[in-house]
Amino acid sequence: MAQRRDRLIVVSNRLPFIFRCGDNGRWHLEAGGGGLITALLPVLRNRGGVWIGWPGSAEDAPDLSAELAAAGADAGYTLQAVPLTAEEVRNFYEGFANEIIWPLFHDMQLLCNFDPAYWRTYREVNRKYARIVDAAASPRDFVWVHDYHLMNVAADLRALGCRSRLGFFLHIPFPSPDIYLKLPWRKELLEALLHYDLIGFQTTRDRRNFLQCVRVLLEDTEIEGRGQVLQVAAAGRRVRVGHFPISIDFNAFMGQASALEVAARAAELHRLLPKRKLILGIDRLDYTKGIPLRLKAFHTVLTRYPELRERISLIQVVVPSREDIREYTDLKTEIEQLVGKINGSFVDPGGWVPVWYVYRSLSRLDLLAYYRAADIALVTPLRDGMNLVAKEYCACSIEEDCALILSEFAGAAEQLARGAILVNPYDVEGVADAIHRAFRMGGEERQARMRGMRRSIRRQDVFWWVDSFLRAAIAKDLRAFPGLPGAGDEPHAEYVSV
Ligand code: UDP
Ligand code: G6P
Repeated sequence: MAQRRDRLIVVSNRLPFIFRCGDNGRWHLEAGGGGLITALLPVLRNRGGVWIGWPGSAEDAPDLSAELAAAGADAGYTLQAVPLTAEEVRNFYEGFANEIIWPLFHDMQLLCNFDPAYWRTYREVNRKYARIVDAAASPRDFVWVHDYHLMNVAADLRALGCRSRLGFFLHIPFPSPDIYLKLPWRKELLEALLHYDLIGFQTTRDRRNFLQCVRVLLEDTEIEGRGQVLQVAAAGRRVRVGHFPISIDFNAFMGQASALEVAARAAELHRLLPKRKLILGIDRLDYTKGIPLRLKAFHTVLTRYPELRERISLIQVVVPSREDIREYTDLKTEIEQLVGKINGSFVDPGGWVPVWYVYRSLSRLDLLAYYRAADIALVTPLRDGMNLVAKEYCACSIEEDCALILSEFAGAAEQLARGAILVNPYDVEGVADAIHRAFRMGGEERQARMRGMRRSIRRQDVFWWVDSFLRAAIAKDLRAFPGLPGAGDEPHAEYVSV
């Protein structure tokens, strides 16, 4: 009989598929979006395992478990749905996760709505996830919980007697104590996090902020070790804490971007927008992405450097997101007004349109074609855990003849500082000057910068990320942990599919 092997059990708020009701009233599965899904899809495809999460609709959706099982079988892993009621969606997902933790952890505390009912539902829903995980996991499995929606799950799993090893990765930033201390449930949440065996952050800054909060809020904290992963003793527990910059499947993006149909679609874009450099922004509709300030910077560049008029166009893709939360709908209106203002001021009837605004989800082909066609990518979040769009753009820049303008407040800036043109996204004139600089940059400099960034992303791709996380989780002695390893190091850690 085939022996059951240890499995990787991934748990995230969302599954990579969403149950959606079409205009015809029929329910179907749609691919989900966002950085977490982009990063985890190749990992599960590569290793197999189980993915547990919410299928993105309220509980009253019909039973689509057969479709989900088929989608999982196709993809080579098991999908298991966590149903949420409409009230749970409201108070847990929209409320605690997206009206408290999301703005707070992105340094936007003024947008937080600290409603105590949200916290109660957050705890209940985390217990619900824990019960489902506990029923699915055996002690030899590695349970890897993802992101800010599920910070309490380890504490709940331990209370249920779960003996599997538990890891947690935070995809968004962790704020400094000045900001974190505003959270009414600050101590409970930190103590809950310390029930994981390994906690991973995107950057050294996030890890430092977390450790400072632990020191400030919990007594008798001790931190040992140095390097990528530290050992922390606090609240009667010993936990590993590390930083692991997330990445993409570089080779897949590069390979797909080389396809003939992608090249043809990119060439078509240049035909439609002739004799000008294309600047690209692709973001979920989110106030952390800095889209209004970016548009103001684009307006400034056209005012400050009139010689660039008719020689550049901005393609701004905005992917619909969290449409039931007011800040998001307000933001959409603000963006559309700014696009209208810029086009109204500078458009040349029958000719040049300064801003091409696209509000929808992109097909893979369109996404790759935009990346390939763009001469400059403008990635200017006000704060971002990593920002995979920046890395995807580099991976798809096969000719290496283009430039990346990147916010210093994106996690990606820690890795790409030498190749990108770094900007402060709040400095509208500074961003305008960066666009001008990227426009005028010589071919040799462009290529040298892009080559360096691509080398780094290729070396530290998403498989490197998962390896380093799992190795940090299972290493017996952290002194033997190799630290930030390069590609070509030892084989993958041992958690594989059944
Ligand atoms: N993306 C998507 N749908 C689209 C366009 C882009 O899912 O229509 C993907 C994009 O390729 C990237 C992710 O969404 O992988 C965005 O990740 P990022 O880290 O930049 O930001 P997030 O949306 O996770 O905050
Ligand atoms: C960010 C978060 C993810 C989330 C994604 C899309 O990347 O870190 O956890 O899934 O945004 O947001 P949504 O609210 O649609 O899941």
